[in-house]
This record gives sequence, C-alpha cells and structure tokens, in this order.
Amino acid sequence: MDSTRRIISAQTYEGLKTFLFFYVALKYAVKSQRHLRARGITTSIREFYTWIAQHVIMLALRLPAARSRVRAEMDKAKHDIEAKLVPQGLHVTRHLALPEVGQTPDWITAEMDKMDNELGNTTDWKHGKLSGAVYHGGAAMERVIVAAYAKYCVSNPLHPDVFPAVRKMEAEIVAMTLKLFNNSEGAGTMTSGGTESIIMSVKTHRDWAYAVKGVTEPEIIIPTSAHAAFDKGAAYLKIKVHTIPVDPVTRRVNLKAVKRAINANTIMVVGSTINFPDGNQDDIEGLGKLALKYKIGLHVDCCLGSFIVPYLEKAGLAEGSNGKYKLLPFDFRVPGVTAISCDTHKYGFAPKGSSVIMYRDSDLRRYQYYVNPHWTGGVYASPSLSGSRPGALIAGTWAAMQFMGSNGYLESCRSIVTCARTIADTITTSVPELYILGSPPASVVAFGSKHPKVNVLEVGDKMAQRGWHLNALSGPAAVHIACTRLTVEKSDEFIADLKDAVKEAKLSPSGKGTMVAVYGLGNSSAVGPAMVGQLATAFLDTLYKA
Ligand SMILES: *Cc1c(COP(=O)(O)O)cnc(C)c1O
Ligand SMILES: *[C@@H]1O[C@H](CO)[C@@H](O)[C@H](O)[C@H]1NC(C)=O
Ligand SMILES: *[C@@H]1O[C@H](CO)[C@@H](O)[C@H](O)[C@H]1NC(C)=O
Repeated sequence: MDSTRRIISAQTYEGLKTFLFFYVALKYAVKSQRHLRARGITTSIREFYTWIAQHVIMLALRLPAARSRVRAEMDKAKHDIEAKLVPQGLHVTRHLALPEVGQTPDWITAEMDKMDNELGNTTDWKHGKLSGAVYHGGAAMERVIVAAYAKYCVSNPLHPDVFPAVRKMEAEIVAMTLKLFNNSEGAGTMTSGGTESIIMSVKTHRDWAYAVKGVTEPEIIIPTSAHAAFDKGAAYLKIKVHTIPVDPVTRRVNLKAVKRAINANTIMVVGSTINFPDGNQDDIEGLGKLALKYKIGLHVDCCLGSFIVPYLEKAGLAEGSNGKYKLLPFDFRVPGVTAISCDTHKYGFAPKGSSVIMYRDSDLRRYQYYVNPHWTGGVYASPSLSGSRPGALIAGTWAAMQFMGSNGYLESCRSIVTCARTIADTITTSVPELYILGSPPASVVAFGSKHPKVNVLEVGDKMAQRGWHLNALSGPAAVHIACTRLTVEKSDEFIADLKDAVKEAKLSPSGKGTMVAVYGLGNSSAVGPAMVGQLATAFLDTLYKA
C-alpha cells in the first residue's frame, strides 16, 4: 500500500518534471519564434552577428596591449569633453560649499553675469544658428512667462485646495491641447516634458493591457526613427521593444514588418508626427488599422510636431506647392489612435519642463494614475511621475498659450515651415552633393550625402566652424536642422554656409567626420564605435563636475 503510493508519487513527480520541462521549452520556443518573426531571418542573423562581434571586440579591448591604447583614447576623449564643458583655470570661482551667510540679491545677479561672461557661450542661442534646443517665443513672450512665474513661484498643484487657480490652468491647458488634436471628449495630463509624456503612455498602455487582456510580458513596437524616450521608458518598465526599420526613401515605418511583430503580448505600436531624426511622419492611418485589428494601443508622438502640425492644414501648408511635403492625418480623427504626446515646451513656446499627454478617453487615462490608499502619510493619489510639481511652470505655459493664441501659432507655423521648405528645396535644387531624407512636412530637415567624396558629418563639422549647432544622425549618416523662430531669418545664411561647407569638405577632406552623435552635445572628439557608450557615460559624469 505504502510502496504503491510511493511509486505513484514518484511517477507524478516525474510527470510534473517532464511537463515543466516541456512548458519551459515551449515558452522559449514561442518567444524565439515571435522574436524571429518580428525581425525576420536576415535581421536576426545580423543582430546575432553584431552581438557576437561586439562581445569579441570588448574582450579584445581588455587584452593588456589594447587596454592601454583604449584607455589613452578614452582619456583623451574625456579630456576633450571636459575642456569643452567644464571651465578650467585659477580665475574661475567655484562655489563648492554653501556661503556662511546668505548673499544679497544684487550679488547673486552680478555673480550670474560674471559666470556668463567668464564661461562665454560656445553658441549664442540668440543668433539663431542653433538647431532646436531653444524654442524662443520672442522678448514680449519672455516677459509674459516671467510675470506668470513670479506670481505662482511657490505654488504646487499637488495641493489643489491651496492653489485652485493652478489646478484650473492645468485642466485648461489639457483641454485646449485636446481640442487642437481634435478630441474635445478626450482626457490628458501635463508632464515635465516629452520624455515623461512618453514614459507615462507606455505605463498606461501596460497597465491597460494587463487589466483588460492579462498581458504579463508586455512588448511595444516602435520605428527606428522613434524618439529614444520609448526605449528609455521600456528599459525603466522592463518592457520588450521591437524596433522596426523605416522605408529608406519615404522614411515611414514599414507597416508589413510592424504587422509581423505584433503578437499576444503587444501592448502598443508607435508612430511619429514628426520624428526627431529626419522630421518625417509615419503612416498613422495604416498603424491605426493595425491597432484596431489587433486591439492594441497606438501612440502618436507629436512631441516635436507639437503646435506646428495641427496648424499646417489651416496655414495651407498640408502639401507643398511642388506636391512634396504632404502631411497625412495624424490626430484623434484617425481611428485607432489611443494616445498623443505634445510638447508645449517646443513649438508651444512654453517654458522648458512642460508637455501634455493625451488619451482618447478618461477610462484609459485612469491607468496612468498612481493611487495608494494605505500610506501612513494619508491617501496618496498622483497623476504622473512627479509628486510635487512646479505650479509656476503650469502658469507659464498657460500664459504662453494665451499670449500666442491661434493666430500666433498659425503665423509661427507658417514662417517656420516656410523656412524649413526653403532650406529643403534649395538643397534639392542647388546642392547636388546632398539629398533630403524623405519629404519632411514640418520644421525639421535632414540631409545626407550622395557624393562619394563628401562625408556629410564632415560637412556638419564645417558648419560648426561657421557657428552652426546642428545634430548628427546615424543610420544613414546625416545632419539635421530643426528650424525655430530664431532660424527663420537665417535660411539664406544657412544655405550659403552649407554650400561653402560642402565645397570645403570635398576639396580638403580630413578623412573623418568627427561630429559624434551624442544627443545634446553637438560635435566632439571621435572614439571608436565600440567606445561610444562609455564616452556617453563619461559625458554624463562630466555634467556633474563642479
Ligand atoms: C523632443 C522630443 C521628445 C521628447 O523630448 P523631451 O526632451 O523629453 O521633451 C519626444 N519625441 C520627439 C519626436 C521629440 O522631438
Ligand atoms: C551668453 O549668452 C547670454 C544669453 O544670450 C548673454 O546674455 C551673454 O552676454 C552671452 N555671453 C557671451 C560671452 O557671449
Ligand atoms: C480638427 O482640428 C482642426 C485644427 O484645430 C480644426 O480646424 C478642425 O475643424 C477640427 N476638426 C474636427 C472634425 O473637429
């Protein structure tokens, strides 16, 4: 009796083990099959090869002989970055401890002036030779924002009972933006910027997919041209990312490949209007059909398009006079769109630290909230990543939007987009060495080289020598300019400088474009591609050197 039971339980144990083995094997098989299907055989092989190659290179770089050379190269690169960003010399006053006694307001202003003068500005942003970075609304706008800041300096929307006006202004900013994107019935919140808007949307769709479909291993599908904030959010939230190539000519994401990557774990797909690298737009209607068919979310990234793309149609610029630069539908009128991010701090000309994340309805927005009814500090409920938030920023954003009004944004759209198209048209017709990536409908224009003797990154370097602060891109190598109100006056100068830069790059090529694509740093010294990650880490360390 006893031994029979033992045999049975041994059999059950064996059976369970076998079952578990097959379960795990099946799970990995399904995972690999989905991964393979999403990327296709050739890409998977290429990715595997790159992975191996990277590891071999990293191992080789650890060999004693290579190590000292790598260290020398890295040290030099770090030194170059430091020399560029951190002021050197004995004349620089460093404030490394609190002053014993508080300083006077006059002293503080004077010290800031001194810093400005001592450090100088590698690029004076007011000269209009800067791509993106500063979205200036003009001197009068600056006064309006500063006045709003002053009035709401200490306010905090975490306490709406104490600051009722700030709560009202935030709700109105969201409402005005929703209307602009054709969804007055929708819902949204403000955030600290495009990155937070995107991370919140990823979280919202993740929690929605878990609640509604029981998805526990979420995946998102993004174009290679999508902003790095999606990768960042997915990395923070431990979500798998499928990155889908864009068409080399139109620069729109390949819809067939998107469709192949969709599986039961997919929570959302992403499209941009417009994307950061080359300013083109994905086929949002095509993505919307997929989103509806597979019952997944569709986030449209209008962080950069912000207050430009909703005005293109009204400005009569939804298509260029030459039939190029056509804008496809992108807002909530497109079925399947579940979320749109719009940066008020870009072409909304609001102070930095302000963006809006919008959802099709308030049911979806609930998944963004964080609620803890059991906290010792009281019932805690907060709409987005931050706890306390600056009410002054909300007031500044509200003031900026009231000051601009629809006619102001319409005019800014018209002048900025006309500037971008003038640059794109002129490059196409009179700089034969370069070509424009895709057919960018709004404010960003990227150019690559089609001439074997012209390295476009070297052209970017030569532009930097002429005072231009442009962005270097990879895949393909290209350089972009995000036009702003400050660039509008500068398109002729840009073209003239660009022609000179191309000529110079062609006549006396140095053999290397040193314009390494570290986002936010512009050009810097070159290191081998294997070291770029380490260089970027060193760059971040440098930012905190006092
Ligand atoms: C600027 C930008 C973002 C987010 O940027 P933040 O710097 O966090 O405001 C997202 N997507 C695109 C296309 C952008 O250009
Ligand atoms: C740097 O830029 C600021 C803001 O535009 C300006 O006030 C200052 O004079 C500039 N300093 C130099 C040295 O160019
Ligand atoms: C959508 O928004 C645009 C721009 O604000 C506006 O002109 C248009 O009338 C709106 N359309 C609908 C259907 O709401």
